[in-house]
Amino acid sequence: MKIPGNTFIVTGGASGLGLATCKRLVNLGAQVVLLDFNEENGKSVTAELGPKCTFIQCDVTSTESITAAIEQSEKLHPDNIRGLVNCAGVGGAILTLDRKKRPHDIGMFEHILRINTIGTFDVSRLTSAVIAKLPPLGKRIEGEGGIESGGGERGVIVNVASLAAFEGQDGQAAYAAAKGGVVGMTLPMARDLGRHNIRVMTIAPGSFETPLMTAAAESVQLGIKKGIAFPQEFGQGQEFAHLVTSIIENTYLNGTTIRIDAGARLAKL
Ligand SMILES: NC(=O)c1ccc[n+]([C@@H]2O[C@H](COP(=O)([O-])OP(=O)(O)OC[C@H]3O[C@@H](n4cnc5c(N)ncnc54)[C@H](O)[C@@H]3O)[C@@H](O)[C@H]2O)c1
Repeated sequence: MKIPGNTFIVTGGASGLGLATCKRLVNLGAQVVLLDFNEENGKSVTAELGPKCTFIQCDVTSTESITAAIEQSEKLHPDNIRGLVNCAGVGGAILTLDRKKRPHDIGMFEHILRINTIGTFDVSRLTSAVIAKLPPLGKRIEGEGGIESGGGERGVIVNVASLAAFEGQDGQAAYAAAKGGVVGMTLPMARDLGRHNIRVMTIAPGSFETPLMTAAAESVQLGIKKGIAFPQEFGQGQEFAHLVTSIIENTYLNGTTIRIDAGARLAKL
């Protein structure tokens, strides 16, 4: 799918990887609707990115809030929403039994799954219903540069998992379960939505320099860097956003999870 002129919804777009994605999409000529529950950051991002980016406050743990935000997005961009990037998410590190042998707070486990997994699915199912109403775009191959031609598709959904889905570290039972859920839903959603010419992909980022990652203790950050092959640094938002736009542009990518991690493998702490 070509990026210029199309509209993409980006959840969690007020910070980190979502913010980098909004910036790249706008720079490439797309319109962006940024859904985030952080109103202050959302408004300052839209002030920075100008009229091609609209902020709508939304809590991805609430179906009511998502429904209202998507209805508003559709009114703003009728017949033009072609993609969704699900960046809203939270981390969390809680041992299954803590040092005093107290069990993991079950409310926290549920909270992490509700935002990362159920939130991702809820925004995806509701956005896909909007995309499915649109006519397909172009043909899959249209001469030179055909991979960007539209591919007969209606739209594309990009989810965000984590290396924790595969190599969850100590204290990541909830986060790894949440991101494992995102990886697991990718193929069945691609199969379901393929009936409507909508693709579904997931990105599993390694460690990126965002508020979520820089909040981790310095010892944890150093340990993570040791496990990276090359370059032995945290990734930058632009590198993540580059992969998002590559996925949007390449119609033959569907139903799978791509790691972007500089060869990192997470170790036991
Ligand atoms: N940064 C990393 O190294 C890294 C690594 C692997 C996976 N991830 C994943 O990437 C995604 C983005 O992470 P980030 O590092 O950019 O984090 P971030 O904290 O910088 O941004 C997350 C955004 O999501 C928003 N958000 C949180 N809960 C929400 C809710 N209920 N409704 C709406 N918005 C909500 C926050 O307000 C924030 O703007 C997350 O899913 C995270 O798990 C990040």
